[in-house]
Amino acid sequence: MAFLPVFALNKKWMSFRVFGIDAVSYSTYSRLQKGLHAISMIIIVWLMTSGYFAAYITRIPEVKEAVSAFNVALATLFAPVFVFRMCVSFGKGYADVLRSNDVMRYAAFVVHNLIYITTLIVIVSGFLMVNRDIDVFGLFYIPAVITDPRLHRWFSDSHTLACYGLALLLFMHVAAVIKHHLTGRPVLKGMFF
Ligand code: HEM
Ligand code: HEM
Repeated sequence: MAFLPVFALNKKWMSFRVFGIDAVSYSTYSRLQKGLHAISMIIIVWLMTSGYFAAYITRIPEVKEAVSAFNVALATLFAPVFVFRMCVSFGKGYADVLRSNDVMRYAAFVVHNLIYITTLIVIVSGFLMVNRDIDVFGLFYIPAVITDPRLHRWFSDSHTLACYGLALLLFMHVAAVIKHHLTGRPVLKGMFF
C-alpha cells in the first residue's frame, strides 16, 4: 500500500505520496482557463500601464490622444472576452476552498474573485464615462449611452477609483505568485504550461 501513490484530490492542487514522500503537483487549470488568463493578462497590463502613462506621465497631446483612441477600442473588443472568462471561472471551486480549511487558499480565492468584480466595474464605468461615439478601429461605432455630463464625471471618477483598486489587487496577485514560486509551489507552471 505504501508504494501506491495516494491521491488526495482537490480541484486546484493535487497532493500525493509516492514511495512515502509528499509531493505536490501544479494546479489543474483547463486550457481554456489558461488561454483566457493569458489574453486578459496581456491586455489588462497594457491598458493599465499605457493608461497611466498617458494620464500622468507624458505631456505630449498627440500621444495622449493616440493611446486614448487605441485603448478605448481595444478595451471595447476585450469586454465580451472578459465577460466570457467570468462565465467560465467566476466563483468556481468555492465548495472545495471552504472544505479545505486552508487560509491561504481562501485568501487566494477572495483576491481572484475581487479581481473579477473590480475589472468588471472598470469596464462598465469605462463605457459609461465616454461622452462620444466609441470608434472600434473604424470597424464599427457604439454611441455614447449617457448624455448627462454630471453622470459622465461620476463614471469617470468611478473608473479612476476602480483602476486604483485593480492596480492594488494585481500587485498583490503578482506578489503572491512570486512568493509561492519562491517557496516551492510552482503556480506559474500550473497557469502557463
Ligand atoms: C501580470 C502577470 C500575471 C501573472 C504572472 C499571473 C499569474 C497567475 C498564476 C500563476 C495563477 C494561478 C494561481 C494559483 O494556481 O493559485 C493566476 C491565477 C489567476 N489570475 Fe493571474 N497572473 C497575472 C496577471 C493577471 C491579471 C492581469 C489578471 C486580471 C484579470 C489575473 C487574474 C487571475 C485570476 C482571476 C486567477 C484565478 C484563476 C482564474 O480564475 O483564471 N492575473 N495568475
Ligand atoms: C480592464 C479594462 C480597463 C483598464 C485596465 C483601464 C485602465 C485605464 C487607466 C489606467 C486609465 C488612466 C487613469 C484614469 O484616468 O483613470 C484609463 C482611462 C480611461 N479609460 Fe479605461 N480601462 C479599461 C477599460 C475601459 C473601457 C471599456 C473604456 C471605454 C470603452 C475605457 C475608457 C477610458 C477613458 C475614456 C479614459 C480617460 C482617458 C482617456 O481618454 O484615455 N476604459 N483607463
